[in-house]
Amino acid sequence: MKKIRKAVFPVAGMGTRFLPATKANPKEMLPIVDKPLIQYAAEEAVAAGIDVLVFITGRNKRSIEDHFDKAYEMEAELEARGKEKMLDILRNTLPSHVSCVYIRQAEALGLGHAVLCAKPVVGDEPFAVILADDLVDDPNGGAIRQMIDVHEYHRCSVLGVEEVPKSETNKYGVIDPQLMDDGLWEVRGIVEKPAPEAAPSNIAVVGRYVLSPRIFDLLETTGRGAGGEIQLTDAIARLLHEERVLAHRFEGKRYDCGSKLGYLQATVEYALKHPELRDDFKSYLKTLKDL
Ligand code: UTP
Repeated sequence: MKKIRKAVFPVAGMGTRFLPATKANPKEMLPIVDKPLIQYAAEEAVAAGIDVLVFITGRNKRSIEDHFDKAYEMEAELEARGKEKMLDILRNTLPSHVSCVYIRQAEALGLGHAVLCAKPVVGDEPFAVILADDLVDDPNGGAIRQMIDVHEYHRCSVLGVEEVPKSETNKYGVIDPQLMDDGLWEVRGIVEKPAPEAAPSNIAVVGRYVLSPRIFDLLETTGRGAGGEIQLTDAIARLLHEERVLAHRFEGKRYDCGSKLGYLQATVEYALKHPELRDDFKSYLKTLKDL
């Protein structure tokens, strides 16, 4: 398998759980303190050595393109006012060696369909998929870096997983796992959003994938599954019959920022670590201790 250079960011979902905030903006542009979710995800990819970012965008694509583009007017304005620090932040959204590609998913037909839209750009190479609404705080290099390491060693697809409460299996793709000596799991089966009583385990896929390009061929012939959507999980279930797929419980804390509670938890915890905010924010939280 070739080296992983490309990451796909599906950002075309409807984000209904955040309406009306997501009426005119993708949920991936929601900020955690002062950075949109999509920028945390892009930084995670760049830290893993990825230099082509492929965004699968939907109807509200403008703000994501603008975010990673040069902001001429704002730069000129800040320069004129001598605001060097702000100018630096504005100019360094991404390092200059990184390129961005935008592909339109005309209809939100599901995550599998969104990933398939990346085929013309990714081609015949293994690639990463990052769901920006699963934010992972890992100070030691990032979740996707860890998964690429596993991929480079074992030369196969790798799913990012974590244990979830059994009562919540119906929110995730859930694997049928076989534990290996090194703590990885061999994936023997995978099913999308199973009811707790039907779930093969409580080990769920969470927003990080390293996939073999064979997945594209399989996605092309994968019909609609759970929720009437073309599911990436269903194509992975077919991939398993042809190729090895491993699951890795990555280090780091995951926040489900696609849900309001997870989003607020991430906001509070990131604010408590933010160099400019943490002291004042902590004092403020202490005033709420009687809640
Ligand atoms: P979700 O399952 O979280 O769906 O998508 P959603 O529509 O964004 O959010 P809710 O449930 O309505 O609130 C998982 C990821 O897949 C992307 C989303 O942008 C998100 O990153 N996605 C989903 C697409 O890009 N296209 C689709 O057709 C569906």
